[in-house]
Amino acid sequence: MTEMDTFASRLSSAMEDANLKQADVIRLVQEQGAKLGKSQLSQYLAGKTVPRKPVADALGEALGVSATWLLEGDASAQQEAPAAVPVREVVEHDAWSPIKKSRKLDNVLYDVRGPVLEEAERMEKSGARILKLNIGNPAPFDFRAPEEMIFDMSRQLVDCEGYSSAKGLFSARKAVMQYAQIKGIEDVTVSDIYMGNGVSELINLSLLALLDNGDEVLVPSPDYPLWTACVSLAGGTPVHYVCDEQAEWYPDIDDIRSKITPRTKALVVINPNNPTGALYPREVLQELVEVAREFDLILYSDEIYDRLVMDDLEHVSLASLAPDLFCVTFSGLSKSHMVAGYRIGWMILSGNKAKAKDYILGLNMLCNMRMCSNVPGQSIVQTALGGHQSVKSYVVPGGRVYEQREFVYEALNSIPGVSAVKPRAGFYVFPKLDVKKFNITNDEQFALDLLHDKRLLIVHGSGFNWKKPDHFRVVFLPRIEVLKEAMEDLADFLATYRQGA
Ligand SMILES: Cc1ncc(COP(=O)(O)O)c(C=O)c1O
Repeated sequence: MTEMDTFASRLSSAMEDANLKQADVIRLVQEQGAKLGKSQLSQYLAGKTVPRKPVADALGEALGVSATWLLEGDASAQQEAPAAVPVREVVEHDAWSPIKKSRKLDNVLYDVRGPVLEEAERMEKSGARILKLNIGNPAPFDFRAPEEMIFDMSRQLVDCEGYSSAKGLFSARKAVMQYAQIKGIEDVTVSDIYMGNGVSELINLSLLALLDNGDEVLVPSPDYPLWTACVSLAGGTPVHYVCDEQAEWYPDIDDIRSKITPRTKALVVINPNNPTGALYPREVLQELVEVAREFDLILYSDEIYDRLVMDDLEHVSLASLAPDLFCVTFSGLSKSHMVAGYRIGWMILSGNKAKAKDYILGLNMLCNMRMCSNVPGQSIVQTALGGHQSVKSYVVPGGRVYEQREFVYEALNSIPGVSAVKPRAGFYVFPKLDVKKFNITNDEQFALDLLHDKRLLIVHGSGFNWKKPDHFRVVFLPRIEVLKEAMEDLADFLATYRQGA
């Protein structure tokens, strides 16, 4: 036993430290209204008895130590002591020392809204009128939400003031469940459906719940860059597989196979594709499913453009071909119902959910943490997915999306040095530039030069994780008159453009 192991030894050492005699201690304790006589104190000091709590409190107070320490010693005192907080050195206020972004963002690239757009905004502020063919936002180009949706949302607005359940309103999820049935995705219940503030939120959430540092995810190149960005942000490593322009921009299955490693966890498929406008036929999807099956990969299928398919082609849901694999299918109303600002998206879990039990717990946790997605938006999912689908009239001959696609496709291919594969769905085309002819080595510079010269804003190919500087994306949402002007400007610009000249 050490010196400080008994109440008596601690009391005596505290008295010594405080330089107090027995008479002083008795007086100080009595001044606090507690009872303490000479014989009692002697008994404490002799180790014959210990005081009750009120007297110990008064003793502690008199001696400037903790009563708990007096009674119980170091262990309990340590328990009660607050955890040591590292002391921060005091530094002088420096108005210029930079506040830096997190290192988590070091590998994150999202150039669809990057430096070229910033330059366009700067030019707009100084009075320039810019034609923006850079972002798939239908509303600024006179695509209006179906009236029924606006009417139904306004009617329900008063009922949408509170949070909904974290996964979403029952009515919205039921409507998505029925949609999944129509798409042939088997065995989906309401609890397998999660509503989100757009597909964007759910892409982020689904990867955050899955990835540990260094886990690999196969992502297409070119891709909708949020996928690559969110894999990186979640600590994963995006590994790009090539989509082959010579083969209608379909995924190159051999390239996918060659890039699978022990750390590969998932395969991302964007179908219909942004930025290429490709729609993958059933055979290609079947091959993707086989690879996932062979290497035990999760399938993430982004199908946000599935209702914007042209040329009498059919969209096949990847998950409908993979009832035995764990699949997450993403879609929403931003594009099909022209309500990108309402932020309505969902994801559907299907296939081998038992295998993904733990992952699903993670998804639920992240879902709970964001409370819920916007409730007025959710309130019109049933309206949107049921009955007449106004989007159908846009994608057939005579419809705006169809005719604008026809126009842009012809116009681009008639520009010397430009060639484009015909997009089959969505509202993007991803043309190729003859880099030798134009001496292009930097596609962002190409985008900036076009912006400065013609006030035309497009996104360069590397913004979609396309590795060569030979592509760019055009959004064909504007009306034909506007697109005509834009294509004439592009042709005029390219007639003399030589990068660096
Ligand atoms: C392929 C793809 N996925 C997801 C999104 C995000 O859509 P949302 O508006 O639902 O967030 C977009 C938006 O352009 C997209 O092109």
